[in-house]
Amino acid sequence: MKGKFIVLEGPDRCGKSTQAKLLYNRLVECGHEVILTREPGGTPTAERIRQIVLEPGLDIRPMAELMLYEASRAQHTQEKILPALEAGKTVICERYTMSTCAYQGYGRGIDLKVIDALNKVASLNLQPDLTLVFLMSDKYFTERGEYLFSDRLEQEDIAFRQKMRQGYLEMVKTTPNAYLVDADKHIDEIQNQVRQLLLERHIID
Ligand SMILES: Nc1ncnc2c1ncn2[C@@H]1O[C@H](COP(=O)(O)OP(=O)(O)OP(=O)(O)O)[C@@H](O)[C@H]1O
Ligand SMILES: [Mg+2]
Repeated sequence: MKGKFIVLEGPDRCGKSTQAKLLYNRLVECGHEVILTREPGGTPTAERIRQIVLEPGLDIRPMAELMLYEASRAQHTQEKILPALEAGKTVICERYTMSTCAYQGYGRGIDLKVIDALNKVASLNLQPDLTLVFLMSDKYFTERGEYLFSDRLEQEDIAFRQKMRQGYLEMVKTTPNAYLVDADKHIDEIQNQVRQLLLERHIID
């Protein structure tokens, strides 16, 4: 693939969108052609699926939820991510396959082998060139989300968040090109670490 695929991962409110925007601006300044996108969503069809999965109070069973995420991913990957990468663009994506393992696998208990298989199919086996895994202490979860509208997934309890956190910690060790980022730090400090990782991997000069 000509372009680089950068994925930002981590639980709700850990600062993915904040860092993705800063990184986007930086890469544009460096002269890259960049696309900033997210999952679930990223295309009109996938955004419609996003509205369903995040609707507060809606009864969605774990297996149906998994399929919805994968449907969104299949559409997003084929319609937007792959064409951009083939055109040589850098793609920054908030959440991708690792989120599905964390939420539906470690969180809800669906067999990780099933999720891996579906992830491969939906992503057409596309692997990120860099996955940044943002993890923050749970005490910041309320602090950073106090005035936010809470979606269906953000209403999960602390035990669920602990299971996901454990999942992210395990996955970052076993996933190629994945790095842990301490999301407790100041926004600027985190962005510096992100830039450093991109430098080391020759994604920016
Ligand atoms: N390092 C930081 N220190 C303090 N506050 C932060 C930091 N990073 C982000 N925030 C704030 O925390 C809130 C959540 O950040 P952000 O929306 O970037 O997280 P997110 O991971 O994209 O969340 P979500 O998973 O819900 O999309 C925002 O109000 C943001 O301004
Ligand atoms: Mg976000």
